[in-house]
This record gives sequence, C-alpha cells and structure tokens, in this order.
Amino acid sequence: MAALETVPALTATATTILLSIPLIGVFTFILFQSFLKSHSRPPGRKLGIDLDHKLSNLHDEYQQSPLGASEDKWEVKSLWIFPIKSCSGIEVEEARILPTGLEYDRQFVFAYKNSAGEWSMLTQRRCSSMALIRIEVYVDEGSQTGGTIRVSFPNKQLFGIETTSSFDLPLNPSKEYCDARFPVEKVHIWKDFPEAYNMKSLVPQSLGKFIGIEGEIAAFRIPSNGLREVHRNAPTSDELGWQPVTGFADAYPILLMNIPSVRDLNDKIKDEIERLSVLRYRGNIVVNGPRMYDEDSWKKIAINGSTYHVVGRSARCRLPNVDPETGVTHRTEPNKTLTAYRGDVDKGTGGAPCLGMNMVPHTDALDTVIKVGDHVKVLERGEHYYIKQ
Ligand SMILES: *[C@@H]1O[C@H](CO)[C@@H](O)[C@H](O)[C@H]1NC(C)=O
Ligand SMILES: *[C@@H]1O[C@H](CO)[C@@H](O)[C@H](O)[C@H]1NC(C)=O
Repeated sequence: MAALETVPALTATATTILLSIPLIGVFTFILFQSFLKSHSRPPGRKLGIDLDHKLSNLHDEYQQSPLGASEDKWEVKSLWIFPIKSCSGIEVEEARILPTGLEYDRQFVFAYKNSAGEWSMLTQRRCSSMALIRIEVYVDEGSQTGGTIRVSFPNKQLFGIETTSSFDLPLNPSKEYCDARFPVEKVHIWKDFPEAYNMKSLVPQSLGKFIGIEGEIAAFRIPSNGLREVHRNAPTSDELGWQPVTGFADAYPILLMNIPSVRDLNDKIKDEIERLSVLRYRGNIVVNGPRMYDEDSWKKIAINGSTYHVVGRSARCRLPNVDPETGVTHRTEPNKTLTAYRGDVDKGTGGAPCLGMNMVPHTDALDTVIKVGDHVKVLERGEHYYIKQ
C-alpha cells in the first residue's frame, strides 16, 4: 500500500519536469541568443577607455574643489564623444578635432514620426530612458562603413525576461554606401530641417517601445556634404576662412565643462542630489583647474597650443535633471537651483540658466589630436551675450 500511494506524487513530479523542459529550452534559447549577440564583436578597434580595466578620468571628480588650482595646473580632465545625440557617451583618452568638433561626435540622431508626419529628433527631454541606450564604437578605417556603432538597450521579451537587444549602424559610411541604401529625408532639429540619411531599415522598432514612443522610429545620419551651418555667436566664415558646421549637436561643435563649477552647483543641492556628475551636462571637453565659473568670461583659449573660439555660454534646459546612470528624472533639480542663481548670468537667454561654454575650433586646431592632460590656457577674455536661434 505504501508503495502505491507514492505513485500519484511521482507522476505529478514527472509531469512537472516534462512540462518544464520546453520552457527551460525557450529560456535558454533567449539567453543564449542575447549572449551570442553581445559577444560577436564587430571588426575594428574599439573606441574609448576600457572601463573594465581602467578607471574613468572622472573617478575623482567629486573630490575636486570649486576654488580650482593655480593656472599651471589647468588641464583637460576627461574627453567625451556622443555618437548618437542624447544616448550614452564614450569616454576617450584622445580625439581628433574636426570642423564639426570631436571626431564621431553627434553625427546621428534618433527621430520619430510626429503627428504632422515629419521626422522629429528624439532627446532625453522627451524620453529620459534614452540615457540607458548604450553605444559602442568600433573603428575600421579601411572599410566601406568606416566601422560600426553598436547600439544596445534593455528589452522585455517572452515571460518578461529582460535581455539586451542590439543593432549596428555604419560609423562613418561613404556617400556611395549611403546613397545605395538609405533614402535622404528631412529631420526636424530645433529650428532646422537638415536632410539626412534615414537608416530606419537598421533600427528594430522595439527601441521605440523601450523609450516610450508610439509609432515609427528611425536613426538619421548627417551627410558629410550636408552639415548644419553654425551662425549666431560663432565666428563668421570671413573671420575663419571656412564656415563653422555641426552634425546633430544642439548649436555649436564643442561643449566645454569646468568641473569646479559643477562642484559648486552640487554643494548647493547636496540634500536633493548627493553626487551630481559633470556628465549630466554632456560636455565634450571637461577641464579641471579654473576656479568655479571662471570660464564665463573666456573668449579664446589654447589647449596644448591649439586655439579654440569660446563663442558663448550654454543655456540649459531640464535635460540635466536626468540621472545619466539610471535614466530617472529628478522633479526639479539641478534646474531649479541653477535657474535661481544663474538665470541672469547671460542677458541674452531670457532667464534660462547657463553652465558650460560652446566652442568652435580655430583653423590651427583642425586635425590636431586633443588629449587628456593637455594644458589649458586662456588667451582672451571678454563679454558674452547669448544669441537665440
Ligand atoms: C527650471 O526651473 C525654473 C525655476 O524653478 C522654472 O521656472 C523653469 O520652468 C524650469 N525649466 C524647465 C525647462 O522646466
Ligand atoms: C601636445 O602637443 C604636442 C605636439 O605639439 C604633442 O606631442 C603632445 O602629445 C600633446 N599633448 C601633451 C599632453 O603633451
């Protein structure tokens, strides 16, 4: 009798095991697929500091003083490239300076089809989870595509298992490569409608779901012969001998941030945000050494002997309220505090607070390589007045 009674229990266990096998199979398959994807590395040299084996050059940013240091210690502390506007950046030790700024910076933008049927840029202002879109760059100079941008984002799959989805974009494709594959369409960025290559065919539409966009989503690449002209506060083409241009940066080729200024801001909002990283302001060139806000009056600087025009202040929106590590938006800070004490720093902004400086490389800086540790020297100081778009 005792033996017989265990039979139903055994059968139940066996049934559970049998039923689980396909489920386990599906689980394993999904995990295996995402493993394969993340481990099949595109050809070329991976751009940026290997943060698995090295510290970020910003590792001690929170220990810097708002008071700065003596002028001989003013230096480039950290360099950043944002290949796709509003997505995560890549920290580098050095970068080539082009008319558009740091090489590979903001040549791409994600866009959605708005209700008017136009393609319109996507940024963290609208979709804060774009902060979680990870970017890797593989430089393969001999190839037709110049290399690969690998884009990864968290994606909910079957049974709610979270895996990473990824897709590739051509890093620096030739005109012939693009003309043969991608339509050219207008994309709306601020008040501009530049024509750019629409690479929607390479973008999984699940990306839209992840960042909370209904409808179509695409990636646009600015053509190298169709860059956006930069006017407003920039030197004119007569002054420079060439027309300043940019890809999908908001307004100017290069954004400079000074760590002591961000330390001072952080000291004012410690109760709300304990550690406010300079990364929230998405600068390309992060300097350390100048006293807080010293940069407000710079007009021309030399970085390791190459000249940059400091064309104006950067007027800030709410985007730095997004924590770049989590993609979570703070209700009010740092915008509220920054507005309270720096809303009138520049009479041209109409009350928008300023932090960081926009720059255009001078001719002598073109094709040079900027490096972490380069010395920063102010050549000229003066007034600034922000010209709106
Ligand atoms: C930033 O903060 C100020 C002051 O609280 C507020 O008036 C302004 O609307 C905020 N800016 C944005 C873009 O939300
Ligand atoms: C500065 O420029 C020189 C060439 O002018 C270069 O050799 C050097 O690597 C640059 N950077 C530093 C940190 O010295």
